[in-house]
Amino acid sequence: MEQELKQANFAFIGFGKVARAFARLLINRRKWFIRKYGVEWNITGIATNKHGISIDPRGLPIEKILRSWKAHSSLNNFHNGPACDSHADFIRQCGADVLFEMSLLDLSGEPAASHIHEALRAGLHVITTNKGPVATHFRRLSRLARQRDVKFLYEGVVMDGAPVFNLFRNTLPSTHIRSLRGILNSTTNYILTQMEQGASFETALEYTRKKGIAEADPRLDLEGWDSAAKLSILIQALMGGSVKPDEIERHGISEDIGRKVRAAVRRDRRLRRVARAYRQGGRVIGKVELQELEIFDPLASIRGLSNILVLNTDTMQELAIIENNPSVEQTAFALFSDLVSLM
Ligand SMILES: NC(=O)c1ccc[n+]([C@@H]2O[C@H](COP(=O)([O-])OP(=O)(O)OC[C@H]3O[C@@H](n4cnc5c(N)ncnc54)[C@H](OP(=O)(O)O)[C@@H]3O)[C@@H](O)[C@H]2O)c1
Repeated sequence: MEQELKQANFAFIGFGKVARAFARLLINRRKWFIRKYGVEWNITGIATNKHGISIDPRGLPIEKILRSWKAHSSLNNFHNGPACDSHADFIRQCGADVLFEMSLLDLSGEPAASHIHEALRAGLHVITTNKGPVATHFRRLSRLARQRDVKFLYEGVVMDGAPVFNLFRNTLPSTHIRSLRGILNSTTNYILTQMEQGASFETALEYTRKKGIAEADPRLDLEGWDSAAKLSILIQALMGGSVKPDEIERHGISEDIGRKVRAAVRRDRRLRRVARAYRQGGRVIGKVELQELEIFDPLASIRGLSNILVLNTDTMQELAIIENNPSVEQTAFALFSDLVSLM
């Protein structure tokens, strides 16, 4: 007798580079979900800022939407559901079991934090790649998820699909993290390491924009806000601290950084922007600093878009996670791996 398939409905907030890469990955693994979990999925709603909103309780024609997607496309043409006056309305009416929050980074955390709050309150699991709400509302949203007995997952907010939170949660039982340090921002690292080879600041930044790696507002990368938000999340999720991004000391980089990059190379050292957290007198302190590193420091060998996180633990001593030259496909995989953990 054929096994009856279970139905899982997903809703997206944001349909940018990450969301479209995730949709492509879901399509690619459609048969795998059926084979492995007996689950057939539908995307029943997508909401954006300027590209409209659409709901279809029977499932949106996602392949057609992706095929026809252009800069000025509107999702309103695919709407076949109840009228929505707001994103809160959308969340309540989209008929989803899981909301994927993939809207733009804003350091206030809003409006994404309200989207996530609304979804958790309505009993939906939430999976996000948006650092803003996780950094600024971590405790409140995690508590709400526990109260509602749903999951609030955010693997993609640090190092894309490389396992950081899932690794800690699932494979490092009873482990205390004493300190951590890493290179967490691909755009800045690409600029610094390209400048070591003579490239200009502007050319290197332009490349990260074209690859879809730089934030929509690249000042968030250059001024260290992106690293500070990631560090704040690591501190809250892995070290039990409560440091917000604006409480983290930051060093930005600008066009005149070339002089320092070349001076470091002349001394046979490397300039890197290092995010680090350590414990001091019962508190956790976070810093995002430009550091000249010895050539044999593992962080000095991290080049281009690559990232590294080194955890100093009481069980494994030093454990390093490296992500080599990520793109949006790796961010999409973070959403995918969080989703699979719900199955
Ligand atoms: N790109 C990466 O490699 C990467 C890696 C890790 C994490 N992230 C994070 O993932 C998220 C998405 O990144 P992305 O590269 O896909 O960005 P993107 O291409 O700029 O797309 C952002 C999407 O969010 C929508 N949006 C913006 N404000 C909104 C609002 N107030 N309500 C609803 N939707 C809104 C936009 O709508 P419109 O289409 O109407 O403008 C767009 O569809 C960001 O938070 C980013 O920081 C990205």
